[in-house]
Amino acid sequence: MAFPAPSALRWLAPVLAVSLTLLPGCFTNKQHQGERLYVQHCASCHGEQGEGLGHLIPPLAGSDYLAQHPGQLACIIRQGLRGPIVVNGVSYNQVMLGVQDTATHRHLSPAQITNLLNYIESHWGNRAGPAGSRTIAGTDAELRACGER
Ligand code: HEC
Repeated sequence: MAFPAPSALRWLAPVLAVSLTLLPGCFTNKQHQGERLYVQHCASCHGEQGEGLGHLIPPLAGSDYLAQHPGQLACIIRQGLRGPIVVNGVSYNQVMLGVQDTATHRHLSPAQITNLLNYIESHWGNRAGPAGSRTIAGTDAELRACGER
């Protein structure tokens, strides 16, 4: 959160952060953006409920791969994924293009990726990683680690 307060007021930031998470209205908005982005960028392949498509597209719903690679998901969205992977016991060897490679060259911001992943990780039986729900700072750090920032 950008909070250009004088240092005497710094203690307010965490207090505000906590109160914001208690405001359902805020969450609803973010969830809506995450859902909208999912429908726009991912559902055509991974399915509306994250169910995937047979042996061509792996599921996101209840995906063990997703659960085991929480730190790489932001980069997968930016850079895509190719090569052999196993998801819930099924082998895939396909190519997922990075979102920036799609015909429209849309480039999702760290904030959008954060909302998108929070949506995916709170639906269809999925859970947030060990760090809990994602923050923009966390997404930034993940993207830096793969040279996307
Ligand atoms: C053009 C089709 C397509 C689109 C659009 C797409 N994916 Fe994928 N995705 C794939 C394919 C194919 C794979 C498997 C790649 C492989 O075999 O290495 C995959 C793999 C994955 C994986 C790892 C495996 C798993 O199922 O857990 C994740 C996570 C993922 N995609 C998330 C997303 C997200 C989030 C979006 C939207 C931003 C998205 N994908 C958009 C086709 C797509």
